[in-house]
Amino acid sequence: MRTLVKNIKELVGVETSPKFRKQGKEMAQLESVKDACLLVEDGKIKAFGPMSEWNGTADKVVDAAGRMVMPTFCDSHTHIVYANSREHEFVDKIRGLSYEEIAKRGGGILNSAKATAAASEDELYDMAKQRLDEVMRMGTGAIEIKSGYGLSTESELKLLRVIRRLKENSPMTIKSNFLGAHGIPMEYRGHQEDYVDLVINEMIPKVAAEGLADFIDVFCDQGFFTVEDTARILEAGIKYGMRPKIHANEMAVSGGVQVGVKYNAISVDHLEQMGDAEIECLKGTETMPTILPGCAFFLNLPLSPARKMIEAGLPVAMASDYNPGTSPSGNMQLILSMACIRYRLTPEEAINATTLNTAYAMGVSNEVGSIAVGKKANFYITKPIASYEYMPYAYGENKVERVFLNGVEV
Ligand code: NIG
Ligand code: FE
Repeated sequence: MRTLVKNIKELVGVETSPKFRKQGKEMAQLESVKDACLLVEDGKIKAFGPMSEWNGTADKVVDAAGRMVMPTFCDSHTHIVYANSREHEFVDKIRGLSYEEIAKRGGGILNSAKATAAASEDELYDMAKQRLDEVMRMGTGAIEIKSGYGLSTESELKLLRVIRRLKENSPMTIKSNFLGAHGIPMEYRGHQEDYVDLVINEMIPKVAAEGLADFIDVFCDQGFFTVEDTARILEAGIKYGMRPKIHANEMAVSGGVQVGVKYNAISVDHLEQMGDAEIECLKGTETMPTILPGCAFFLNLPLSPARKMIEAGLPVAMASDYNPGTSPSGNMQLILSMACIRYRLTPEEAINATTLNTAYAMGVSNEVGSIAVGKKANFYITKPIASYEYMPYAYGENKVERVFLNGVEV
């Protein structure tokens, strides 16, 4: 099956010599072809180039006149399997309570864990599938999904089985992440090392036995898991073939970046609290610094020093953190806008941060994240717009008209 997308005003995010990620000055490089066409064969990108050079045949033709074609977003950090929204805590925060204060009194993650434990696997699947379909229609083609609202062996397995079903039933590229160490259940307060033992000795072996997780995650931060807890959990996960990918430095300069780098995490995420030592420690490593603009926006947190990181030669990725407590939106078009407006990335850097670099941060940049021959034909066609800069500029507006995953319109 061959599909031709013709008359493309500008085909953006093409790579003639594909990179696994872009860092430092490379982040400003974004190749494109004007008046272009794109040929898809059997779900993969077969060729692309100027429209004037096309002279073949195709089974299906899609006309993209007046429109941009761009690689779908890759969202490398989400928590979309949960049961309840948390707008009451949102109001508490407006009235002055901090995220940490809400967590201390048993709200926050524990609030979601309670509701999620009470929901059946089918109910959780239906809710998560709806969220997944919504973000897909807004232009996301690949996504990482974490457990972490279980916090008991049984509930964590239930969440991970939901993620497995999403993998089986969605055309999106999905990676699963075991985040048993997301919150400390009330009954373990004061002796959280016993909960860490439970994660290590019971949860990880069971998760691995069912092959449910690609990654292992820990919320390594002030008031949550310590650097020592994190090291123990990551070591245990690595033994079972799960690559680390962690939450670090949201509340404080927690040592999270250093412990992530030490265990060769594929990404360290959040990074609202970054000193020079953290930037230095990421240099020359395989770890992708990942910023979550939706969380900083929703919680009014300090902004991660994205420009400083890029100027230090680092790569930067930006993901949604879609979850009920700190970022109740998975809209990557909005993340693209925030990347430019709040973090001063150029549109080119912001597109790389939300496509290729997030693909790297979930271990799939060899198959998605740009328009390159042999990659999955995952792209969207915009509404009629004048330039790709309009994408981050017109924040809040849905600029995506049609989405194609594996060459098929969804
Ligand atoms: O990435 N920071 C830790 N975990 C989530 C929030 C989870 C919640 O509050 O429900 C995050 O922001
Ligand atoms: Fe998160």
